[in-house]
Amino acid sequence: MLLRSAKPALKAAYSYVAIGSSVGRPAAIGISGAAKSFLPPTASGAFYRSISSTTQLQMSKDADLVRGFESICLHGGYLPDETTSRGVPLYRTAPYVFESSDKAAKLFALEELGNIYTRIMNPTTDVLEQRFAAMEGGAAGLALSSGTAAAFNTVVNLCEQGDNFVSARNLYGGTYTQFNDIIPKFGINAKFVDICDPQAVKDAIDDKTRAIFCETVSNPALEISPLEELGEIAKEAGIPLVVDDTFTTPYLTKPFEWGGELVVLDCDMLLSIIF
Ligand SMILES: Cc1ncc(COP(=O)(O)O)c(C=O)c1O
Repeated sequence: MLLRSAKPALKAAYSYVAIGSSVGRPAAIGISGAAKSFLPPTASGAFYRSISSTTQLQMSKDADLVRGFESICLHGGYLPDETTSRGVPLYRTAPYVFESSDKAAKLFALEELGNIYTRIMNPTTDVLEQRFAAMEGGAAGLALSSGTAAAFNTVVNLCEQGDNFVSARNLYGGTYTQFNDIIPKFGINAKFVDICDPQAVKDAIDDKTRAIFCETVSNPALEISPLEELGEIAKEAGIPLVVDDTFTTPYLTKPFEWGGELVVLDCDMLLSIIF
């Protein structure tokens, strides 16, 4: 478990979150920092970028965490800059200015943190990522274009061709279709199980299993995942528990506190009411 404000070292060691939305509002994914060790070398640069920037994220997150959850929803991840703008500035840029070619080389090599190109990082998006990370009690986040993209990126960054992951069979329909029909085209197999049956979950894990995936409360079947038990099983197997926290939102559930290593959020749903 990571994520308590009194334990910054633990937070830095663990969590990670990513975000996107198909209807113009944010949707999010989250990973715990321990999940870094689960990522194969082919994991996307954006994943590594977000995870390696946890120290930077930590600074504004610590400021946020002294406030209540409602204040994090409003102000998390943003400290007013020299303009004193209360609203989060919109940085409508694709490229950034590099002070020297040497500096640019270091940024592209990920030796130093900084803005490179908006597809990979953008200061406005960064506020969103930090805000969701703070709401979930995670250390960092990654924004994507939709909740579906968040789940996809999570799976393809954890698994390589020939790998599999164990998934709840009760899932949001779009996620099920993605896992059942699309992800297998990449040579990655979803093993669907009754997620409330710990033995079935254990039995499905083999030496090619890279993650366990579930929803806190499944949409629309309303199946409640036994997160604590699943977290233990995942820990024993040395794989991350990935939790789609869309249905309950971080206001009601924080999967990182129950053994989750990675959180996926679709912000089109209940979270869009908050924002
Ligand atoms: C639990 C859950 N996860 C993921 C998604 C997918 O999110 P999006 O519609 O942003 O792709 C949904 C969509 O309703 C959902 O209910």
